[in-house]
Amino acid sequence: MNERKRALITGITGQDGSYLSELLLDKDYEVHGIIRRSSCFNTDRIDHIYKDPHNEEARLFLHYGDLTDGTTLRRILEEVKPIEIYNLGAQSHVRVSFDSPEYTVDAVGMGTLRILEAIRDYQHRTGIEVRFYQAGSSEMFGKVQEVPQKETTPFYPRSPYACAKVYAHWQTVNYRESYDLFACNGILFNHESPRRGETFVTRKITRALARIVKGMQKEVYLGNLDSKRDWGYAKDYVRAMWLMLQQDAPDDYVVATNETHSIREFLDVAFNYVNLDWHDYVKFDERYLRPAEVELLIGDPSKAKQKMGWEPSVTFDQLVKLMVDADIQALEKSKKIAQGFD
Ligand code: NAP
Ligand code: GDD
Repeated sequence: MNERKRALITGITGQDGSYLSELLLDKDYEVHGIIRRSSCFNTDRIDHIYKDPHNEEARLFLHYGDLTDGTTLRRILEEVKPIEIYNLGAQSHVRVSFDSPEYTVDAVGMGTLRILEAIRDYQHRTGIEVRFYQAGSSEMFGKVQEVPQKETTPFYPRSPYACAKVYAHWQTVNYRESYDLFACNGILFNHESPRRGETFVTRKITRALARIVKGMQKEVYLGNLDSKRDWGYAKDYVRAMWLMLQQDAPDDYVVATNETHSIREFLDVAFNYVNLDWHDYVKFDERYLRPAEVELLIGDPSKAKQKMGWEPSVTFDQLVKLMVDADIQALEKSKKIAQGFD
């Protein structure tokens, strides 16, 4: 009998971690995730796929750990014995990284190095290959040196977060070349979904819009509306992560839609969809500006398409609308529960 494939995911409670877990469970993997201890439950995004480990059918297992704690990462690797590791854990908010640069760099940059070192030793000792995915970011292109950005475009990071991701990127390349690790960098452009964290601009807008529609909120405060992003759908992007680890050889890939839109355009599509004019609701607060901004991101995903057959399946318009719909539905559901109708 074939033994089930085992994967380990850091950042399993995040947007991408939850979609990737679903995808791997669908492919019959046993999935292990690292979660941080928190004073209240922080597993909302994966509760629907979690089964009590005493249940024979359980295939998703959680382990307490932190990217800043190398000893625990090593212990979990030894216990789980995964054949694939997806390093998605991060303090992933760019604005917050200016407030907490040391912690961000520790978790994002050193955290990646800690895992690479653990894999290097484990693989050397056991001879078992562990394939590694590093969650790189289009933020690494920062002040862009080329349009559109591709795998060979030079990096010019503009935040502590982006600097740490560049460090993690080159360490991943370095471990691949020095120790023959099957290590891949995904250079993923912005990807969103109804599970997107509430303080990223897309979700902040769709969540506020839902509350405005329901008469629960009158305005929303935003920062720079002129920056442009290449926005895709998170479910499409986790498929690219998995594909990278299924190739014959490790490599680095840009994952993007090759379309770019400003925050204003996002507001246009979202508010027009519910027949409102965003100018009546959106207010400016300089608190949401960044010390240095990334003005324009647009990725060229042709390598991912040619080598892995990866393509995005959701358009910008569809993405905005599905997020608006989901936030409105979530409010309706919570209202019903509060009224005891559900
Ligand atoms: P997310 O929703 O912010 O999730 C981040 C995950 O990392 C959460 O599970 C979080 O745990 C965990 N985490 C934070 N600090 C940690 C630490 N010190 N040790 C262990 N885990 C920690 O991010 P995402 O959108 O899913 O993104 C996944 C990865 O892709 C991140 O590395 C991000 O930087 C990168 N990325 C994202 C995008 C994008 O557009 N979404 C684009 C390019 C790259 P808690 O739930 O406990 O907070
Ligand atoms: N968060 C936020 N909140 N952003 C705002 C706001 C606001 O109120 N108002 C305007 N913006 C602008 C930001 O200045 C930025 O130019 C743009 O909206 C997008 O901001 P975010 O949604 O916070 O995402 P990000 O592009 O900075 O970073 C995300 O994508 C990266 C990939 O390019 C994160 O997911 C990163 O982890 C990821 O690496």
